[in-house]
Amino acid sequence: MGGLHHGHGQLIKTAQSAGLNDQAVVIVSIFINPLQFGPKEDFENYPRDLENDIEIASKFGASAIWIPSQSQVFPGGPDSSFTIQVPPGLKSKLCGSIRKGHFDGVATVIIHLLRRVQPHILVLGEKDWQQFVILRELIEVLGLPVKVRGVATVRDIDGLAHSSRNQYLNEADRAKALALPKEITKAAQDAKKGKIVDLHQIRTSLENKGLEVEYVEIVDPEKLQSTKSQQHFSLLAAAVRCGTTRLIDHTFLMSRNPIVAIDGPAGAGKSTVTRAFAKKMGLLYLDTGAMYRAVTWLIQKNKISPKDQVAIGELVKKLKLEIKSFGNNQQIIVNGNDVTNAIRSPIVTSLVSEVAAQSLVRKALTEQQKAMGNSGGLVAEGRDIGTAVFPNAELKIFLTASTAERARRRSIDLKEKGYTFPTLNELESQIKERDKMDSTRSISPLVKAQDANELITDGMSVEKVIESIEELFRMRIPEEVWPTPLH
Ligand code: DC
Repeated sequence: MGGLHHGHGQLIKTAQSAGLNDQAVVIVSIFINPLQFGPKEDFENYPRDLENDIEIASKFGASAIWIPSQSQVFPGGPDSSFTIQVPPGLKSKLCGSIRKGHFDGVATVIIHLLRRVQPHILVLGEKDWQQFVILRELIEVLGLPVKVRGVATVRDIDGLAHSSRNQYLNEADRAKALALPKEITKAAQDAKKGKIVDLHQIRTSLENKGLEVEYVEIVDPEKLQSTKSQQHFSLLAAAVRCGTTRLIDHTFLMSRNPIVAIDGPAGAGKSTVTRAFAKKMGLLYLDTGAMYRAVTWLIQKNKISPKDQVAIGELVKKLKLEIKSFGNNQQIIVNGNDVTNAIRSPIVTSLVSEVAAQSLVRKALTEQQKAMGNSGGLVAEGRDIGTAVFPNAELKIFLTASTAERARRRSIDLKEKGYTFPTLNELESQIKERDKMDSTRSISPLVKAQDANELITDGMSVEKVIESIEELFRMRIPEEVWPTPLH
């Protein structure tokens, strides 16, 4: 809508690097949309300074600025244009509850703009989180061929989120306005420490600083509806009036950093993909299969039968399993033995499913895995990550491929590691046997979590799979809470 500032600058920079190639054409549209202002709102006074807008857009690298007239966007006037109705569930809370018709107006104009520009990627600021969620959903539901990229809120050095409306604030107002980012930042820190955030207290603190509170609410970040209790990942959003200026801000309340769970059968390419994805996103990488393999190695070394529950129970009691990460490689040490390579041998592979079905083994390893994920910021791969280890993971992927494809990949893998390997037919039946054992065992069997995204990787390159996971990550996890912001 114009009134460009550094927040918009960041959107332009993101658009440049999110392009399909390094010749991305970045179009900045500037259109003050009458449909999104209520009768008593500031449509007439909304900041209009095209000279400044053009300067900022070019400075940050826009290829072109499109400033359509009203009749270009709504030939025949807004009243004769088709309009979009945002579902009540997405607009009944937060700004939608106060600015009636606002999001219908936003959605309507965005469809018109997209239809004309036909971009590959639409870059939106996460600052207007409700708007971001609504537009992302609208584009998905209509099946429009455009990817949506969210960009974390950009703040001034004093913490105030950049907004076109900040220019209405005089010095005294601005000092008052800082209570908003301060309160929400404190709430986010409290949530990280496991404290329950008290909305009443936030409201009072804001009012005591001279701000008039329109709303302070905690909602589910995707459904935008109230949650019964403060869940492990919620949105805290607020709108205040500072003098005559309306300001909004938000944060995410999380008891830990995000977790990604990647499950799937043997040979689906989980390790390769998970390791590369972890590196790209700055997440820790946890290969839980390696832990079951390490226990299997120990059982085999001690000549214990995988069926001997008593002996396995004793062994698990004294188990000391260490996982050391070097970049995106892991070193596995079990009771002082470095077994990083030995656990990949065909003999361990042939026994591991039976060992992994033992309740004492599962209990010990699941506990250790949960402890490793306590503060989040990791991507874990295995069979039961999304169902048993991290059922609250923000993103769950079920990675799979046909048995023929998995046998083919397994044979290449064994060949590279220098092991003799059986025929593809034999490998296929071994894989089927392991799938059966993993998915029919009584404790934490291999199943797709109900809220997991299934990716069937036949015919997909490793890069394509990583790209698809990154896309899902972007959809589910606001950039603001990413470990390392990527653009
Ligand atoms: O992914 P992988 O092939 O390294 O896993 C080895 C075995 O460990 C696999 O057959 C099943 C088991 N496993 C499990 O039961 N639960 C996990 N979370 C990970 C692996």
